[in-house]
Amino acid sequence: MPPTQHKIVIGHSQRMPEIVDSSVHLMVTSPPYPMIQMWDKQFCQLDPKIAALWQKLEKEPQEEIVTQIYDAMHENLSRVWAETYRVLVEGGLACVNIGDATRSVNGRFRVFCNHSRIIEHCEKLGFTTLPYILWKKPTTKPTYKGKGAFLGSGFLPPNAYVTLDCEFILIFRKGKLRSFPPKDPTRYASQLTKQQRDEWFSQIWQVTGTRQTVDELERRTGAFPDEIVERLIRMFSVKGDTVLDPFVGSGTTTKIAIQNERNSVGYEKDEKLLSIINRKTAQGNSRKGAVEIINR
Ligand SMILES: C[S@@+](CC[C@H](N)C(=O)[O-])C[C@H]1O[C@@H](n2cnc3c(N)ncnc32)[C@H](O)[C@@H]1O
Repeated sequence: MPPTQHKIVIGHSQRMPEIVDSSVHLMVTSPPYPMIQMWDKQFCQLDPKIAALWQKLEKEPQEEIVTQIYDAMHENLSRVWAETYRVLVEGGLACVNIGDATRSVNGRFRVFCNHSRIIEHCEKLGFTTLPYILWKKPTTKPTYKGKGAFLGSGFLPPNAYVTLDCEFILIFRKGKLRSFPPKDPTRYASQLTKQQRDEWFSQIWQVTGTRQTVDELERRTGAFPDEIVERLIRMFSVKGDTVLDPFVGSGTTTKIAIQNERNSVGYEKDEKLLSIINRKTAQGNSRKGAVEIINR
């Protein structure tokens, strides 16, 4: 296998002019989650319209404004899904790790079904939705009246809420199945074991691998566990393929692509994460696949 190549662009992924059409085989990502408080500021920075709507909501508490905020957040994400569609090859796959959000806004507790919004947007762009994975997370606490725990009252019906203890890994394909020549050696070299196939292609994943956070800045990236990314890369690409992550964060996808002999390209708008990205992509990287950083 020739050495793999890795690029990270410090810039927004709503435009990816650095990537030519139909040149990426797999996208694996975890975007900022709409309506999860920790990502509010990012959405406001990305789109001043969203910041203005939050301010308007403070003065005029109307449900319609909440809907406009939520719509605008997903419209911003959808521009990235559109660019992803452009750069994927025919048969290329896109895996999106996303959680729904529970939140009291404007005095009303509700769930914001981010996964269904993303499916709607991606289908409009031409993607085919494939069966998705539910990642059962071990740590999420139960919810009562929109607060973080039952507080001992979950026993008394009917006002407690079901806990969101799963996140989604949505899977989409562009066009028809990828085709390979018969007995393609790269494909055979990327083969899974029977145990991996049986476990990884089941719908519920109980990945307990903790997020290996080193400091506060890394914690705020909301990194996904290495094992989630490793499974997806090995299930949906072959050695030598190119993997895209349009929301690189701490660089998990780049690190796992290096370790699994895939090329990679990533986008991260927050320059402050570079030191974490450099540290993470150097970890366990005996191949020393140098990561090229491109400052837009
Ligand atoms: C949930 S985090 C990704 C975490 C990543 N999966 C990891 O393992 O570290 C989302 C990241 O996307 C970045 N981001 C948000 N909007 C972006 C955009 N339009 N273009 C590029 N990066 C963006 C944020 O700065 C944040 O670091």
